[in-house]
Amino acid sequence: METVTLPQVHRVGGLIGAELRGLDLTRDYPDETYAAISRAWAEHGVIFFRGQPLNEAQREAFAARLGEIRVRQEVRKEPEQTKAIGEGWHTDMTCFDEPPKATILFAEAVPPWGGDTAWAGMGPAFEALSDGLRATLTGMRAVHANVRKLGYSYAQTDPPEPSVAEYDAAEGPVHPVARLIPETGRAVLYVNPEFTTRFEGWTRRESVPLLSYLFTHGTRPEFVTRFHWEPGSIAMWDNRQTWHFAVNDYQGERRVMHRILLAGSKPQAAG
Ligand code: SIN
Repeated sequence: METVTLPQVHRVGGLIGAELRGLDLTRDYPDETYAAISRAWAEHGVIFFRGQPLNEAQREAFAARLGEIRVRQEVRKEPEQTKAIGEGWHTDMTCFDEPPKATILFAEAVPPWGGDTAWAGMGPAFEALSDGLRATLTGMRAVHANVRKLGYSYAQTDPPEPSVAEYDAAEGPVHPVARLIPETGRAVLYVNPEFTTRFEGWTRRESVPLLSYLFTHGTRPEFVTRFHWEPGSIAMWDNRQTWHFAVNDYQGERRVMHRILLAGSKPQAAG
């Protein structure tokens, strides 16, 4: 009988993140191996692999074992560019009815210093709130709109700050503020600074104080892990329960990553 190879899971933070070792991702493993990877990723929010310089076909094959591929993108910053994609806390595309379940980022070329990515865990962030605020947020819903990107070319120019009226008028899906992660039964905070514009039934002005509190709370250092990339590093994050931030501190250097987003479903309310 074939023995199943399972990854060794080494936590990197107390509350978020784990590095998985002992696999060669150019190989195809039995389903149990991918099930273990998916479990680690739902449990730790973000997982990392090192020393896996996959080519395009290998990246696709690996991603396809973990979910349905929706989007493939190159995330590139050339030495003369000043803006980087993702330099602000966000969750990918929550302005969709069915936001991506997960994102996989593969490092091809990395700067000699800097260029890290940070993730914040919305499971621990939700659990650290008071019973009263958790009870208030559970059952609330919020609008997620792409209002800050209107008429703005990603990574090339600064987006103008929309007016309060534009925020109030911006349309987008309404998602639960406390989201259930079905695999673990965990309730997580499901708002993010990029796309959450206001609470359902509340104006932008009414929403801003509570949203600002949550956006500050969500990035407390104990909820955050930061990864230093090497060529061949891979990060996979659960886009349902994390925010991430690409640190743009390597001006004059080149960074090339490949990103695959996996299909998600309509967020399910916790509670
Ligand atoms: C992103 O997906 O926001 C980009 C992350 C990164 O390049 O580190």
